[in-house]
Amino acid sequence: MSDPAVALVTGATRGLGLHLARALASRGCIVYGAGRWPVQETALEPFRRLVLDVDSERSVQEAVHKVLAEEGRLDLLVNNAGISLAGPTEEVPVPAAERLFQTNYFGAVRMIQAALPALRRRGSGAIVNISSAAGKIGVPFQAHYAASKFALEGFSEALRLEVAAFGVRVLLIEPGDVRTEIWERRAHYEKERSPYHEALDRFLTVKDREMGDAATPPEVVAEEIAEILLGAKTGFRYPVARGSRLILWARKLLPDRIYLWLVARHYGIKLRA
Ligand SMILES: NC(=O)c1ccc[n+]([C@@H]2O[C@H](COP(=O)([O-])OP(=O)(O)OC[C@H]3O[C@@H](n4cnc5c(N)ncnc54)[C@H](OP(=O)(O)O)[C@@H]3O)[C@@H](O)[C@H]2O)c1
Repeated sequence: MSDPAVALVTGATRGLGLHLARALASRGCIVYGAGRWPVQETALEPFRRLVLDVDSERSVQEAVHKVLAEEGRLDLLVNNAGISLAGPTEEVPVPAAERLFQTNYFGAVRMIQAALPALRRRGSGAIVNISSAAGKIGVPFQAHYAASKFALEGFSEALRLEVAAFGVRVLLIEPGDVRTEIWERRAHYEKERSPYHEALDRFLTVKDREMGDAATPPEVVAEEIAEILLGAKTGFRYPVARGSRLILWARKLLPDRIYLWLVARHYGIKLRA
């Protein structure tokens, strides 16, 4: 019988990461679920806890070192930690966008740089980047969030080609709407008397609904992702959760003009004043 896979999941204190850590552990993996602050391990959780802030190079190095020291290897690195931001692009301060990129993009880059030497030397393993449907479509009033996920997509495509020869796989998971706290915890920007106020309001009404009851529960999405990661699939991109497959299909097949008109209509955005 082969050894159980060793997995490190970033952002496993709640939401998708927490449920993915549970789903992987329930399938026999040795799982390290990471979060920024210490959490007491309990017999109720089937995975080990790891303190890890993906914004900090030192924290990343220490966390990866701990897993390798304890287990001797890492088979699955899941870059899940992420934050969200909304607001009219004209009004979002650049430092706020930089903070978002520090977590959503550079956080994954730091983790990969720390873990890749061990994966490469072993000649196996997988790097799983949790992107988003917004990694392929520019969601209005979430320009920087989409940009951070677009960046992760391009990075992952390039990386896949660089590391395939060493036996290391790179995968992208592209969730649609998952019912977690990411939306309510977002950084939100809107200036007083913003000329975007009405359009932003209409957008928020739709988005609140999409991220509420309409969204797919994280435990369902986590099960789907665990099946993808531990099954026999060999693909690169995997849309999961509500809306993702349809949106990505439409983005690929429709001409820009029609696609953008549909998005504008969906979010109640006027294309001309
Ligand atoms: N929910 C959706 O609809 C959706 C859709 C598409 C893609 N995604 C992606 O799925 C991933 C998980 O999102 P979620 O919806 O599960 O969000 P969530 O419920 O807000 O959970 C985010 C997780 O990321 C962690 N985190 C945030 N900043 C961190 C940092 N600097 N270092 C380490 N951990 C950090 C949080 O841990 P702390 O306890 O330390 O804050 C938390 O565990 C994200 O990459 C997100 O972009 C989500």
